[in-house]
Amino acid sequence: MDKFLVNGPCRIEGQVNIQGSKNAALPILASTILFDRPVIIKNLPRVRDIDTMLNLLKSLGLKVQLFKHKRTVRISNNKKLKFLASYSLVKTMRAGILVLGPMISKYHKSITSLPGGCLIGARPVNFHLNALKKLGMKYEIKKGYIHAKSKGKLKGAKIKFPKISVGATENSIIAACLAKGETILKNCAIEPEIKDLTNFLISGGAKIKWIGKRTCRIIGVDSLSGTEYSVMGDRIETGTFCVAATITNGDLRIKNFNPKIIQTEINILKKIGAKIKTSKDEIHIMGPKNIKNISSITTKEYPNFPTDLQAQFMVLLCKAKGRSVITESIFENRFMHVGELRRLGAKILIKENKAIIEGNTKFVGAELMSSDLRASVALVLAAIVSSGKSIINRIYHLDRGYENIEKKLQQIGVKIKRLT
Ligand code: EPZ
Repeated sequence: MDKFLVNGPCRIEGQVNIQGSKNAALPILASTILFDRPVIIKNLPRVRDIDTMLNLLKSLGLKVQLFKHKRTVRISNNKKLKFLASYSLVKTMRAGILVLGPMISKYHKSITSLPGGCLIGARPVNFHLNALKKLGMKYEIKKGYIHAKSKGKLKGAKIKFPKISVGATENSIIAACLAKGETILKNCAIEPEIKDLTNFLISGGAKIKWIGKRTCRIIGVDSLSGTEYSVMGDRIETGTFCVAATITNGDLRIKNFNPKIIQTEINILKKIGAKIKTSKDEIHIMGPKNIKNISSITTKEYPNFPTDLQAQFMVLLCKAKGRSVITESIFENRFMHVGELRRLGAKILIKENKAIIEGNTKFVGAELMSSDLRASVALVLAAIVSSGKSIINRIYHLDRGYENIEKKLQQIGVKIKRLT
C-alpha cells in the first residue's frame, strides 16, 4: 500500500492549477445514461472515484472512450444496457447510487446495490428512494440490492426533501429530466456541483429552471441530444490549497477556479489573517505570520462552510493563537483525523459534534494513518507544518479525490515523496 513521506516544516510558494471537480463529474457521468446521442465531457479529474464511475458505466454496457490524458471522455449508449450496478463497484464509492435515477428514468428498471456503511456517518439513501418513489418508481430491497422498476415513464411530481441532501437532489433532478410533465423539487441542495450538473443537462436539451433559492422545476422531455461540456473546477481542492498557503505563511497563486464559489471560505481565511486577492479565475493567497483563531465555524449545506473542508481547517486552527471551535453538523462521525492530529501534538477536545481546538500547536512529525479522503489530506497538511519526518499510511483514500497531489505539492515547495 502506498504511503507518503513528508519532511517538514515547508513553506509553500508558487502556482497551482486546479483539477476538474470530482463531485460535479460523478453525477454528470451518471446522468449520461439518459442520453440517446454520444456526449463528450472534458476537464475530468484523474482520480480513482472517476475511474470507478467509468467502470460502473462500462459494466452497465455504455461505451466509454477516454482521450487527452484521460481528461476527456466520450460516452455513448448502445441501447442494450445491463441493469445491474454491482456491489463490488458501489461499495467502493457511494456515488454509485447515482445511476439508479437515470436507469429507472430511461429504461424503467434497475438492480442497484445499496452502498452500505461508511466511516464518516450512516449515510442512508432513504431520501433518494422516497423521491424516486414519488416519481413512480416501485422497489424492493433484496439481498442488499434495490430492485426497482416503473410502469413506463416516470411521472412528474411535487417533492419536498425532508432534509437537504446533495445526492438525493442530484438523483431526483436526473430522473425527472425524462419524466412525463412537471416536477417541482423543494428544499434542494444548491452546491455549485449541482448547478454544474443542471447546466450540463440543460446543454443536452433538459428543461430545468431554478425558480427559488432551493426550488427547482423540471419539465420532462422525450430525449436528450448529444452535447459537449467542461466540468467546473474542484472547490474542495481549491480550499485545501488555500489552507496549505495560509498555514505555511506561504504565497500561492491558485489558477483555473472562480473565487466567487468559495466566498464563505475566503471570508474565514481573511479573518484568520490571510491576504487574498482574487480575479475572474485566480486566487492569490498569502499566509500570515501569526494565524488568528476563530471562535466558531459550523459545517452546513452550501452556501455555508463545507463539511469537506472541516478537517483541513481544523489543522489550520491548531496553529492559531488561541481557542477555536468547529461544529460538524452534516455527518455524525467526521472527526476521525483528530486522534491522528493529537499524535502530532494537537490539543483538541471532542464534545459531541464540537471540536474544541486549543491552538498554538507545535506539530512534531510521526507515523499516521489515513481514514477517509478529507481526513487524509488534513494529515498531509499537518505533516507539512510538522518538524521532522512524517509517514502517512493508506493514502489510497487520497487518490480517490486528489489528482497527483504529491507532484503539485512538490512543485510549490513541499518535501513529499510517495513510497510504493
Ligand atoms: C455529497 O455526499 C458529497 N459526495 C460528499 O463529499 C459531501 O461530504 C456531502 O455531499 C455533503 O456536502 C459527492 O458529491 C459524491 P448528502 P452525499 O446526501 O450526497 C443524510 C467527499 O469527501 N442523508 O448531502 O452522500 C446523510 O447521512 C465526499 O468528497 C440521509 O439521511 O451527502 C448526511 O448526514 C464525502 N438520507 C446528510 O444527509 C439520504 O437519503 C447529507 O448527505 C441522504 C442523505
